[in-house]
Amino acid sequence: MYQKRPGVFMADWWDADGRRHRKQFSTASAAREHEHRETALAHAERAGREMKLAARSSSSRRTKPAVTETGTVEAAKGKLGVMIPGMGAVATTFVAGVEAIRKGLAKPIGSLTQMGTIRLGKRTDGRSPKVKEFVPLAGLDDLVFTGWDIFEDNMYEAASNAGVLDYRLLEQLKPFLSSITPRAAVFDHNYVKKIDGPNVKKGKSKMDLAEQLRQDIRDFKKSSGASRLITMWCGSTESYIEPTEAHQSLKAFEKALRENDEMIAPSMMYAYASLMEGVPFANGAPNLTVDLPVMLELSRKNEAPICGKDFKTGQTLMKTVLAPAFKARLLGLSGWYSTNILGNRDGEVLDDPGSFKTKEESKLGVLEHILQPGLYPELYGNMYHKVRINYYPPRGDNKEGWDNIDIFGWLGYPMQIKVDFLCRDSILAAPIVLDLVLFMDLAQRCSELKGLGIQEWLSFYFKSPMTVPGLYPEHDLFIQMMKLKNTLRHLKGEELITHLGLEYYD
Ligand SMILES: NC(=O)c1ccc[n+]([C@@H]2O[C@H](COP(=O)([O-])OP(=O)(O)OC[C@H]3O[C@@H](n4cnc5c(N)ncnc54)[C@H](O)[C@@H]3O)[C@@H](O)[C@H]2O)c1
Repeated sequence: MYQKRPGVFMADWWDADGRRHRKQFSTASAAREHEHRETALAHAERAGREMKLAARSSSSRRTKPAVTETGTVEAAKGKLGVMIPGMGAVATTFVAGVEAIRKGLAKPIGSLTQMGTIRLGKRTDGRSPKVKEFVPLAGLDDLVFTGWDIFEDNMYEAASNAGVLDYRLLEQLKPFLSSITPRAAVFDHNYVKKIDGPNVKKGKSKMDLAEQLRQDIRDFKKSSGASRLITMWCGSTESYIEPTEAHQSLKAFEKALRENDEMIAPSMMYAYASLMEGVPFANGAPNLTVDLPVMLELSRKNEAPICGKDFKTGQTLMKTVLAPAFKARLLGLSGWYSTNILGNRDGEVLDDPGSFKTKEESKLGVLEHILQPGLYPELYGNMYHKVRINYYPPRGDNKEGWDNIDIFGWLGYPMQIKVDFLCRDSILAAPIVLDLVLFMDLAQRCSELKGLGIQEWLSFYFKSPMTVPGLYPEHDLFIQMMKLKNTLRHLKGEELITHLGLEYYD
């Protein structure tokens, strides 16, 4: 415990993973008491883990030896730099949230890496560590941030404009958020028609712009002292395009960059720059960006993982929970009408038909894949699926996602379900961003994952999960979660959980 200044006392302790924490109190006794309690908890946690490890190593139940953390996954040493193209509502809610959690002002609700547990072994074993204790993830204290945007607002101003977080919370975070200013963006108005801003790079060619982004990445790595980096696209949804020749190989893509090919969108230049620098790239928007042969090639070559597309937050989250239930019970679906009203900048961007088409494609895909009308033609062969997004400024970031679902049951009798989700878009997206940052960093430190390119085990977080060509994506939320957790078990040499359960009745 130490006194920072008159009336401000800092509890200072190390947790069971050897991470340092500090928390502010107004009296010395409160700080000391907190420090003693946390230190005792850390000791107990470490002792408990050692006992469990000893018990496990002598147990004959285990079929595979545990792989040591250093064997397949390098330890998370040093700072992790998070680079965010698009410092809007989602990005600022994420960064402000991380800082609020670090300061002990709030809890990381919604984050699997921070609050989730993972069951190991049999149901009778009683082993369910927290995910962050099971695999070596970067700690929140190790995160450092930068970003790019077409507007000049720093993160405090951008968060205030986004209107997601309460100003009383933002005031407490002001010095930190104000220190994060946007780098000049690579932007093309043809790809995002509803907005324009002054903070934009100029260059002789698209290759020149991509080189400038690469320089930004190198500069940030140096100035922040980060040992590892991640790029997390939180920029606007770009106009709908389909892959062309220019996207098929690195050679073709670089030629197209030099020739200013109009089919190269800004998000692709950020992705190219990151992957060229060996930095993983995660895509939170439905843009093609890394869902292209050239990016897969580059990702594998430079061992920089990729994943996307489009955060699965509100309406689609509900869809991928309900649709598997209908299929499990063999209930038919005649129609699903989904509409949204939202009034943030994302809503304004999506008011443009080109950007909406990109989002619509992403939202429409899930039902076909989950319900498999080819396998169940009587149940799902004639379903009608419609998705609308309406820009309605009074709602700001507080979107309303409304669904009317027409189903039918025994003998074809019709029924209806209505879902009205009054959600907060960025509040749902921020914990997804945090988990993706930490898991993508895990992937880049993991010998088994880093050369794979697409990280399909992170499908859990996306509306349009990426897969290798020819493989259909898993959209069912619970299959996605099992895939994610089994990947973590596999990395650590733990038995995969199949839920067979016959062994309990031997
Ligand atoms: N919030 C959600 O629930 C959710 C869910 C799925 C996907 N998304 C997607 O996440 C993205 C971010 O959402 P948001 O609500 O923060 O939007 P936002 O409009 O608040 O922020 C996007 C920011 O990106 C900036 N930008 C646009 N093009 C850029 C470029 N080329 N380089 C740098 N900056 C650029 C814009 O100026 C803006 O500040 C959107 O594409 C959105 O569709 C959000």
